[in-house]
Amino acid sequence: MHAVGIVAAAGSGLRLGADLPKALVPLAGRPLVAWSVDALRAGGVTEVVVAVPAAERAAFEAALPGVRLVDGGATRTASVRAALAAAQDLGDAVLVHDAARPLTPPAVVARVLAALADGARAVVPVLPVVDTTVAVGPDGVVTGALPREQLRRVQTPQGFDRATLVQAYDRLPADAELTDDAAVVHTFGIAVQTVAGDERAAKITVTHDLVLAEQQVRR
Ligand code: CTP
Ligand code: MG
Repeated sequence: MHAVGIVAAAGSGLRLGADLPKALVPLAGRPLVAWSVDALRAGGVTEVVVAVPAAERAAFEAALPGVRLVDGGATRTASVRAALAAAQDLGDAVLVHDAARPLTPPAVVARVLAALADGARAVVPVLPVVDTTVAVGPDGVVTGALPREQLRRVQTPQGFDRATLVQAYDRLPADAELTDDAAVVHTFGIAVQTVAGDERAAKITVTHDLVLAEQQVRR
């Protein structure tokens, strides 16, 4: 099995609020996206394609020398779609990863690859939900508790049989916007397997996440 990695790095990072695209924000002096590309490679992915903001191409080329870049789109779904088109024929499996998960341990990548090698067509790393989790109505009032033991938090990289993911994106309406890729294949009835995720693969979303990541690197 030969896996190609796709890194979604074309977001702007509004919630982080930095003055450059989130994927270029430094962690211990290196752009987040460089950490994320390294994480995929350390876990066993050979080829990588990165979706970047079209207007920032030069800065990403400087941050990722020798890495194949494509222009992303207005949504994560559009960015992955563009990278997937560019990654055609690079492998029989695809791992889609967020640039915003810089400290993903190689073991997580390896678990996803192993599940694909075992025959899974789609696989996601997950973590349990530890807080009591409730649904809330538009008025801010709790409508009920959710069964926490059935819930999982989904991380990346998410792994797919390449033909399965390509076909799902082909069938997906052009303007569809989903928050991850497992949701794309699930829409078409493909079973999505799970493997253990890792707290260190947390997504950098707000400033506090970056502070925690800096502490993790220094340890
Ligand atoms: N992403 C992308 N293309 C987009 C939007 C997001 O490739 N049009 C990527 C981001 O670069 C990020 C990943 O998808 O690595 C997860 O998205 P998120 O954490 O929401 O990042 P941003 O969209 O950049 O942040 P925000 O939503 O706060 O603006
Ligand atoms: Mg976003």
